[in-house]
Amino acid sequence: MPTLHLGFLASHGGSNMQAIIDACKQGRLDAKPCVVISNNSDSMALTRAGTEGIPCYHISAATHPGETEDRAILRTLQAHYVDTVILAGYMKRIGPATLQAYRGRILNIHPALLPKFGGRGLYGKQVHEAVLRAGEKATGVTVHVIDEDYDTGPILNQVQVPVMENDTVDSLAERVLTQEHLLYVETLRGISGGKIALPKFD
Ligand code: GRF
Repeated sequence: MPTLHLGFLASHGGSNMQAIIDACKQGRLDAKPCVVISNNSDSMALTRAGTEGIPCYHISAATHPGETEDRAILRTLQAHYVDTVILAGYMKRIGPATLQAYRGRILNIHPALLPKFGGRGLYGKQVHEAVLRAGEKATGVTVHVIDEDYDTGPILNQVQVPVMENDTVDSLAERVLTQEHLLYVETLRGISGGKIALPKFD
């Protein structure tokens, strides 16, 4: 039986999710992708899940009247025996029920070296814009466990990425994204192999 049972939450492209699925399929990661959830019915992440034959669900405030989105997400993760939740470009805040049930086991990837360039409003291209504006010589990628706040939970793994003199937001985003794919898989390998410990929350 695989060590990790993964549930993905993704809003858009899902390229990080795909990198992890590929690693599972190729035997580079001892984990099973159990379910994919997206708040965006048109997301590439849902298309990818369909292609891979992974159960997938569109869950938004509109799709589950009478039940909060948070409860619907939690119920779906639990119904698919998920033990570790992977945020892969998920643009919504995780609700209190899901956060409580999976406390210490919800991972996120951020395209910068946290705690720098993180927090409310700093996501996607805004992060790279801020890095370039600040004249940084290096940026990077962070994988961390989430808590109630934005980008503040315990850091599990980081890698540096150089900023080139002629970088644009797009060229920097592309260089960082390549490293995101590697770091997310490497971190999950560390967790499944016991080399990276997930934090205990009280
Ligand atoms: C990545 O840059 C990730 O760091 C951020 O959202 C982006 C998602 O990309 N949280 P993708 O959907 O995995 O392609």
